Amino acid sequence: MRTSKEAKKEVFKVTPWEVSGKIDYEKLVKQFGTTPISEKIREKLKECHPLLRRGIYFSHREFDKWLDAYEKGKLVSVITGRGPSEKMHLGHLVPFLVAKSLQDRFNCDVFIPISDDEKFFVKENLTYEQSIEYAKDNILDLIALGFKPGKTFIFQDFAYTDIYKFAAQIAKRITYSTAKAVFGLKPENNVGWSFYPAMQAAHILFPQYYTKQKHISVVPVGIDQDPFIRLTRDIAEHKDFNLEKPAALHAKFIPSLYGQAKMSASEQSEGVIWLSDSEKEVERKIKKHAFSGGQPTLEEQRRKGGNPDIDVSFQYLKMFFEPDDNKLKKIEEDYRSGKLLTGELKDILIQKVNSFLKEHQKRKEQARKVVGNFVIEK
Ligand code: TRP
Repeated sequence: MRTSKEAKKEVFKVTPWEVSGKIDYEKLVKQFGTTPISEKIREKLKECHPLLRRGIYFSHREFDKWLDAYEKGKLVSVITGRGPSEKMHLGHLVPFLVAKSLQDRFNCDVFIPISDDEKFFVKENLTYEQSIEYAKDNILDLIALGFKPGKTFIFQDFAYTDIYKFAAQIAKRITYSTAKAVFGLKPENNVGWSFYPAMQAAHILFPQYYTKQKHISVVPVGIDQDPFIRLTRDIAEHKDFNLEKPAALHAKFIPSLYGQAKMSASEQSEGVIWLSDSEKEVERKIKKHAFSGGQPTLEEQRRKGGNPDIDVSFQYLKMFFEPDDNKLKKIEEDYRSGKLLTGELKDILIQKVNSFLKEHQKRKEQARKVVGNFVIEK
């Protein structure tokens, strides 16, 4: 029989402001009323980023409709944003790697709002100046990913203040009780926090507002952001706006180096790979912390093999760093059979992460000179 303690462990919470517990993604799809990504859709994403091909993006809203529109030669776009509460780590890149991959595959425009206002409202200790500073820094990391100039539009809420005009029109159509119900706002939250959903809805509808063309956009996001999608889909059709409902692609959460476990604040810096990390830092952190699915002794590893399904190094290779399906399969088989040892698997990852970061850091430096080609200010 299950004890109440075990049952309690299964309680999980997913809101835009809080994610906790062990997440049951199937349940979440039912709770949120989204649709699992079908084989038919996955087939059309064969040439896209591993994050899209290998199940990390697992659920959607009307992405089939977006693909249809594309196939009929209609205008489609991608929009996803970044809340700049700190410098960026690998996990933060997830929706942007996907946005870039969709841009490459479908040759569409990408819109990237930077919600420095959101993080300023929500993070008690983040100052106004810091939120702007992180926004500027994060923008360089995003440009470094290689988005196409002329087809990529980045804007920062505190700099592109024109967004307020659109957000205000939307705010007028969101009642306080809707905001409260959808976002679980509490009386102790400040009013900036309650206004913000209007801003994010403005972000999501921005491609249609900016291009003055009614069309379908897709929003790749973590599943925790789905309440914003639902709200925005309702607003889109309001007669004030008469816009197309946005589609969405939902990602699972990316494990820290420690595995699925929730990190405490003091562990956080150690449990992630920052885009600014040095080669030595990467090597040290992966060796020390990357949760292993291997056996405690070499002899046992050779005999029983490791478990790639829970091994963070393998998962990172699968999600980010080994796009070649055959090579990934070989690593998986060798690890399972005991031929490949944990240390060797970690070495593969370390080498891949470091070559990615070396290139990224170089491109971030170069991005400083071309910011003007990507950022809309007025
Ligand atoms: N709220 C998102 C976050 O905290 C960032 C964000 C801002 C966003 N605007 C967006 C995400 C529009 C998707 C679409 O990460």
